[in-house]
Amino acid sequence: MKPLLITIDGPAGAGKTTVSKILARKLGYRYLDTGALYRAVALKVIENHVHPDQDDELASLCQNLDIQWVHKEGVNRLICNGKDITDRIRTEKISMMASKVSANPIVRQKLLYLQRKMGENKGVVAEGRDMGTVVFANADIKFFLDANPQTRAMRRYNEIESQSSSTFEQVEKQIRQRDQNDSTRQLAPLKASHDAICIDSTKLSIKQVVEQILDHIFARF
Ligand code: DC
Repeated sequence: MKPLLITIDGPAGAGKTTVSKILARKLGYRYLDTGALYRAVALKVIENHVHPDQDDELASLCQNLDIQWVHKEGVNRLICNGKDITDRIRTEKISMMASKVSANPIVRQKLLYLQRKMGENKGVVAEGRDMGTVVFANADIKFFLDANPQTRAMRRYNEIESQSSSTFEQVEKQIRQRDQNDSTRQLAPLKASHDAICIDSTKLSIKQVVEQILDHIFARF
């Protein structure tokens, strides 16, 4: 089978990250986590006290931003302006700020070029919100992974429970807020591409989702 470009879009907590990582490993592909790039911008916005609604401040921040994925000891590390930020971008505060700054055209333009560069050699599983609709509209096969909001909030809550003091209700509220931000923004909103295969993971295990995706891939290629 020739190397493919596979996209997986969907809302927070739908299982995209776990599924994409397993899929990439099984196929011997690279895994591209595009949400991490928006999280990197969010971290810099917070660290540099940049106002997320001020275009000039955001533009200058984006101009001076160097983001790279580096493969180290079997895992991908995210390096931003020379610093490893992989472990610092997974807080709820960063999630909310990433969702906010991702609506800004300056930020999206900066990351669009970077993402396309990262995916240009195929053999990639690219995960995000607009992979199939905008960034890789010509992808070989596209998936949209969804689940009901309570299930997604419960998954996220279980993931962060040991490191966070947030209650389930707070996590659910944030997930719903991010759904709202990400799907109603003007530019590249979260939605299934017209040619995406939609999978509802509410009642499926990770293994079942991966199996369904692989079945679709092998049926087509
Ligand atoms: O996938 P994630 O939770 O790490 O993404 C964080 C935020 O980044 C998400 O709420 C919206 C934004 N995002 C985006 O706008 N486009 C993408 N392709 C990926 C993420």
